[in-house]
Amino acid sequence: MLDRFCAMLLFVIFVGAFGAENTEYCEMLGDPVFPLLSKDGDITIGGAFSIHSQISKTSLSFTDVPEALTCSRIDLREFRFAQTMIFAIQEINNSSSLLPNISIGYKIFDSCGSTLTSTQAVMGLLNGQERTSGKTCSSRSSVHAIIGASDSSSTIVMLQSSGIFQIPVISHFATCACLSKEYPSFFRTIPSDYYQSRALAKLVKHFGWKWVGAVRSDNDYGNNGMATFITAAHQEGVCIEYSEAISSTGPSGNVAKVVRVIKSGTARVLVAFIAQGDIDILVEEALKQNLTGLQWVGSESWITAGRLATKRYSGILTGTLGFAIRKTKITGLKGFLLQVNPGQDSHNNLLREFWEATFGCSFQSGIHGQTLCSGSEILEDINNTFTDVSELRISSNVYKAVYAVAHAMHNMLKCGDAMNPQCIWKDDFEPKQILQSVRHAHWSTGQMKITASVFQR
Ligand SMILES: *[C@@H]1O[C@H](CO)[C@@H](O)[C@H](O)[C@H]1NC(C)=O
Ligand SMILES: *[C@@H]1O[C@H](CO)[C@@H](O)[C@H](O)[C@H]1NC(C)=O
Ligand SMILES: *[C@@H]1O[C@H](CO)[C@@H](O)[C@H](O)[C@H]1NC(C)=O
Ligand SMILES: *[C@@H]1O[C@H](CO)[C@@H](O)[C@H](O)[C@H]1NC(C)=O
Ligand SMILES: *[C@@H]1O[C@H](CO)[C@@H](O)[C@H](O)[C@H]1NC(C)=O
Repeated sequence: MLDRFCAMLLFVIFVGAFGAENTEYCEMLGDPVFPLLSKDGDITIGGAFSIHSQISKTSLSFTDVPEALTCSRIDLREFRFAQTMIFAIQEINNSSSLLPNISIGYKIFDSCGSTLTSTQAVMGLLNGQERTSGKTCSSRSSVHAIIGASDSSSTIVMLQSSGIFQIPVISHFATCACLSKEYPSFFRTIPSDYYQSRALAKLVKHFGWKWVGAVRSDNDYGNNGMATFITAAHQEGVCIEYSEAISSTGPSGNVAKVVRVIKSGTARVLVAFIAQGDIDILVEEALKQNLTGLQWVGSESWITAGRLATKRYSGILTGTLGFAIRKTKITGLKGFLLQVNPGQDSHNNLLREFWEATFGCSFQSGIHGQTLCSGSEILEDINNTFTDVSELRISSNVYKAVYAVAHAMHNMLKCGDAMNPQCIWKDDFEPKQILQSVRHAHWSTGQMKITASVFQR
């Protein structure tokens, strides 16, 4: 919570308004933030993914301007989400039936799995990069809708800034039930934990487990999801022996302490509502302390994580149960992903970084022990998280989110239609009109043989 509060303090002051003479004049006060991937179009869809998983530590003295945040360690799964968004946009751009003759652009920012960077990202999405946006302060948002973010806390931070402008935010991965209660411009293509938490309680009851331990991430996702689970579990007659919170950014030693509590408990069933960034730390510590013999019950964020289904963790996690997000196929995505290479845009640092991480080479010569990247390495020779399309769950939620926005805009532009009685043309419509349209959109994507719709609950 403090984290989020600081984020608001630090970055909301980016835009300042000066009342000068007769006209208002607006100028950006901080430095603009740039998208990692972007392309212009008549309509622009923004994206925020946790493309990197580690953020630099900054000291917040509140007396000096804080250092710029830097993100490192590319997350190949999140990079796949970003590329899936681009794939869907291209598919719609190429379509002659959906938004014909309208080009769609995108701006994709890195939320870096942190509320601080997410604030920066949403400011970039709203403000654009121009330091002065013209003579008046009433310029438009630089994007018409936002896809993201990959976790609940980051999504909340984005909504705190974008909500007042009524820009629709559609998340592919934020499950916290708290989001739908507070933010009318929020939508998602993933079910809310309102359902998951109850279902987990029923699952535990189903197997006759009456005495369980509970562990959660100390963030919006874990705290809300677990609170609902505990209430539902009590109603099902299940008792909770302990309820512990882990924090990967909090005081060190917290995870070790939590594992000691679990170990000394008598419950043989452990319900873990843990965010993606925290689960590795918890399982590593469990391994260190030889925490075996437990039946784990997991939440959707980690239950299908391939990186945990290894021999290393088999002694701890074998037999784990939980609910997974529906798996789908996206025709053409694999081929699209295999085309991604640094030659697509020689100035793009992210593409080069992706290449270096994938092939273990470097574009800079003279780095000891590193081979030089040629740029013509072959992605098809590699099997990694980025190219693996056998388990498309969250990626398909990204795909659906882009289609939701496109259908909403398409419906709006149908001249004379109920959504567009005044015949608004593409240059004139505002995000808040899209918001209305998303609410009413029911659609099916060409590829997925299921009718999809966004959830607002
Ligand atoms: C969309 O199509 C237009 C026109 O064909 C093209 O110029 C633009 O680059 C395309 N945009 C994307 C994101 O592919
Ligand atoms: C869109 O059309 C372009 C040009 O025909 C093609 O290169 C690209 O692969 C298409 N993209 C998708 C996702 O269908
Ligand atoms: C798209 O543009 C072409 C060429 O300008 C035009 O012939 C066609 O009618 C347009 N289609 C729609 C649906 O507006
Ligand atoms: C870990 O626990 C198992 C079973 O509880 C036990 O057999 C094994 O010896 C323990 N290993 C270590 C290194 O403590
Ligand atoms: C990648 O995985 C596929 C399918 O599992 C397999 O056929 C292929 O040989 C693998 N390629 C490499 C380079 O490991």
